[in-house]
Amino acid sequence: MAKILAIESSCDETAVAIIDGDKLLCNVISSQVEVHRKYGGVMPEIASRLHAENITVCLKEALEQSKCSLEEIDAFAVTRGPGLIGCLHVGLQAAKTLAMLYNKPLIPVHHLCGHIYANEYAGEFIFPMLCVVVSGGNTELVLMKDHLQFEIIGETKDDAVGECYDKVARVLGLPYPGGLPIDQKAKLGKHTYDLPLPLHKENTYDFSYSGLKTSVINLVNSEKMKGHEIRAEDMCKSFQDVAIGMIVEKAIKAALEYKVKQVVLAGGVSANSYLREQMKERLEGTGIDLIIPPLWCTTDNAAMIAKVAARLYKEKVFASLDLGVDPNWKISEYRNFEN
Ligand code: KG4
Repeated sequence: MAKILAIESSCDETAVAIIDGDKLLCNVISSQVEVHRKYGGVMPEIASRLHAENITVCLKEALEQSKCSLEEIDAFAVTRGPGLIGCLHVGLQAAKTLAMLYNKPLIPVHHLCGHIYANEYAGEFIFPMLCVVVSGGNTELVLMKDHLQFEIIGETKDDAVGECYDKVARVLGLPYPGGLPIDQKAKLGKHTYDLPLPLHKENTYDFSYSGLKTSVINLVNSEKMKGHEIRAEDMCKSFQDVAIGMIVEKAIKAALEYKVKQVVLAGGVSANSYLREQMKERLEGTGIDLIIPPLWCTTDNAAMIAKVAARLYKEKVFASLDLGVDPNWKISEYRNFEN
């Protein structure tokens, strides 16, 4: 059983977790969301500076909570990408320093593998499995035939669904991050606005969100210019039906076509109540199992990075100390980290 300390700093959460075999000893998260809220989105420079300030505090807290010393740690894991370049650098430098100082292996982890493996805190994986990876930076359908085998069968050609939620929330005057406020308002509204369904009829598992985002922005602006009031609840419902509907349709089609035994939801947008409800409803009676991650697993954390790292440790997937970050790292390339 290995004790692994994992660091996550790819966006606006500084996080440190320690895992002992399968047992999670601590999961420390310092969120910067309040700082970025006043800008309506993550400010990359501020985010990396805050990571640099917070990382040692989180490390100290993690060691205290788990009653561990750094000498006891068998390996140091870190999110190498995808994410914001400056933010990734802070986590990587911290992990490299610890690996060098304590002469222990350095394990580079792909952020989206982390989001997928967060589901292992909720249930056991059954393969073949379809992962619906929906977050602020990514929208992907990933097929897994076994552990640590990732095949992208569809992805967004432009914006991520979470990014689209955040931009739509901003134009409606809702707080950042926009996912939860839109989700809540949608429950009170009716689908009355006509919005485009991108790549809907095409025979592809790819997604597109920039057209939907622009349509909402244009519609809101043109109504404002005409002096008409926007019914925020109705707009949220209309938008959510389309944004989530597209994911549900493609995910169900892929699950049936690839004859998967299980579907897992992953990433920040997997907290969406309509997505959870729809996936549950549509998979009922198909014989396909569904894992819905607990809410604490949907936001960025290092416990999910530690889960992947525990598997990579067994396979000795270690990096040298000249490892660099990769803001655009593809999940299918997760073992490929030579600079
Ligand atoms: O996974 P995450 O922390 O970001 C990345 O790693 O990229 O996800 C954050 C995203 C934000 O865009 C936020 O608006 C969205 O997840 N989100 C939601 C909900 N809760 C958070 N989107 C839709 N419905 C929600 N309930």
